[in-house]
Amino acid sequence: KEIKQAEFIISNTDYKKSPEPNLPEYAFIGRSNVGKSSLINMLAGRKSLAKTSGRPGKTQLINHFLMDKRWYLVDLPGYGYAKVSKKAQAEWGSMISEYLKNRENLVCVFVLIDSRLEPQKADLEFINFVGANQLPIAFIFTKADKQSINKTQKVISAYKKTLKASWEEFPPHFISSATSGAGKNEVLGFIEQLNDA
Ligand code: GTP
Ligand code: MG
Repeated sequence: KEIKQAEFIISNTDYKKSPEPNLPEYAFIGRSNVGKSSLINMLAGRKSLAKTSGRPGKTQLINHFLMDKRWYLVDLPGYGYAKVSKKAQAEWGSMISEYLKNRENLVCVFVLIDSRLEPQKADLEFINFVGANQLPIAFIFTKADKQSINKTQKVISAYKKTLKASWEEFPPHFISSATSGAGKNEVLGFIEQLNDA
């Protein structure tokens, strides 16, 4: 699958300044440095549509991209970066929670998880926040090229086990690599299905 046209629209700290909510929207979120912006570039087939960096905390704003004039993709700043001040973390929290709770055209929240790490507190907290607000969620296990598929599957199993108590069903999930392009067809296919639903 290919995105034919990907266009940057606007960056905001206030979700109210987002584009008119007249198209389906998909948000990408996860811990700082998990590979959100890299995944977005991989999905779009563009090298530097979203800005990436080896240092955590690169993305600071709510960034809207228009894909094939048909749906919005949103790149969000990462959470859980310890070096960020308490004040900045609180600002992040309210910016993101306001966006997630109020954005009426939001179809699915993709939570990106580093496929190499056992379930992390910051991720579980965020996942449960999304669940508590009854927003549709899917997981993307990133950077799968960095280890064997076996190890990635073990991490996914650990999430299944951890979430079993609080989640009726384990959400749809994908394995991705921004370097190999793994997961691209699956994620774009999933979005297409939801767009057509
Ligand atoms: P923030 O905007 O800071 O929250 O980070 P982010 O989640 O947008 O991460 P970003 O895409 O900027 O990537 C962080 C680092 O991880 C960069 O050095 C990327 O090159 C690297 N990276 C991202 N995805 C992958 C991947 O799938 N495989 C490998 N090997 N490296 C990756
Ligand atoms: Mg980023």
